[in-house]
Amino acid sequence: MNEIAGKPETEERDLLVFGAEAFTSEEYARAEPDRLWRKVWQHACREEDIPEVGDYVAYDICDDTILVVRSASDEISAFYNVCAHRGRRLADGCGHVQEFRCSYHAWKYNLKGECTRVLDREDWGDRLEQDRLDLPHVRVDTWGGWVWINMDPDAAPLREYLEPASSMLEPYELDRMRYRWRQWCHFDCNWKVAMEAFIESYHVEGTHPQLLKFADYYTWSQAESLHSFHGFDEREAAHEITGNNTITRTGRGDDARQSIAALQVELIETVNASTTQTFVDASTRLVDELPEGTPVDEVMAHFMASAKADDAVRGVIWPEIDPDHQAKCGIAWHLFPNMTIGIGITFALIYRVRPFRTDPDKCIFEAYTLERFPEGQEPETEWIQADPYEPGAWPPVLLQDFDNMREVHRGMRSKGFRGCLPNPVQEKPVSNFHRSLADYMGTGAPRPL
Ligand code: FES
Ligand SMILES: [Fe+2]
Repeated sequence: MNEIAGKPETEERDLLVFGAEAFTSEEYARAEPDRLWRKVWQHACREEDIPEVGDYVAYDICDDTILVVRSASDEISAFYNVCAHRGRRLADGCGHVQEFRCSYHAWKYNLKGECTRVLDREDWGDRLEQDRLDLPHVRVDTWGGWVWINMDPDAAPLREYLEPASSMLEPYELDRMRYRWRQWCHFDCNWKVAMEAFIESYHVEGTHPQLLKFADYYTWSQAESLHSFHGFDEREAAHEITGNNTITRTGRGDDARQSIAALQVELIETVNASTTQTFVDASTRLVDELPEGTPVDEVMAHFMASAKADDAVRGVIWPEIDPDHQAKCGIAWHLFPNMTIGIGITFALIYRVRPFRTDPDKCIFEAYTLERFPEGQEPETEWIQADPYEPGAWPPVLLQDFDNMREVHRGMRSKGFRGCLPNPVQEKPVSNFHRSLADYMGTGAPRPL
């Protein structure tokens, strides 16, 4: 692991270059379903999406379509969402059913995917085997409050696949968080271009310059197995304080009372994530609660203690996480292949990107925030399709990232582009993404620089 303090090391294996094929080639995109998407664990939905028996989510990935169903109070089943008769998709989106009834010729399936009705079955005589009628199962498991699926019967178990991310993130109790908002859109770029816009913070100066007045954004990054993560190099003692995960930062300026509040307000207003109303309220009270000149570590300690106390009063008990562990976990994780978790003590910002069918130029982009709420006070949310060009439809910081996604997708197709040169210290998640991709896709690994 990198040391949190001091300059992170540059490793030889991260001094590399790779071409644009993974982003632009139609052949590569057509190979992805077989080599990648049918082999990896991917989250299909949250457990909270399917709380009642009969609730389902239809999860589409490239040409595959899978039903994830609460088939019993303590059981989730997953099977292909394709009628055994002539291949009609059985369900779309999400909903609640007693059974699945195909809208073409009215065959029926129970919540475990077993075929329960074939119209005029006797027409086949005794030639229809039940096995041939039941919907083929897909592996399913849960971690972090998500329901994960895997189409490969020989894949490693979910937990093994996610390590060490799963163990390191376990203390955050992501399973106890719930949606605060969730949005999606179709986006005209390769899914990897979109994913890479959210797995490093090296882009802050270029893309989000307004944030520079609040803090430094020099980052360390770390690859572990298929996955990776990055964080800020907080040299202040403040990161020792429980609850401060380096997202909840001291900010810039002489008066920590004001700089902490300024950053929290900026985050809620321009990202609508990466903090909570509790943190915003506790931060804006600092100027009233502490005298001018209070040392930064005391301000941060007070800020954290009062946010924690405020949450406790409303029934949100913070998980106990060792401050060193929090510092080690950084601010954001890339879980291979297509998920990012921006992590905080009581909140998370998630991105998921999927290819649209096998089109290398189109993806399905989703962003959502999770938060820990008092039990019974979780907000009712639903997926909102938000136009990426419509002013106000997405938080302003994301619009800045969207610009990069469009322009990178275009730029890397130009003859003059000689391949990506990821920063060997701060963009290890990008390098690792392409190493992992190359392993699955059977393409050449990124070249040494
Ligand atoms: S395709 Fe489903 S019943 Fe015919
Ligand atoms: Fe960004």
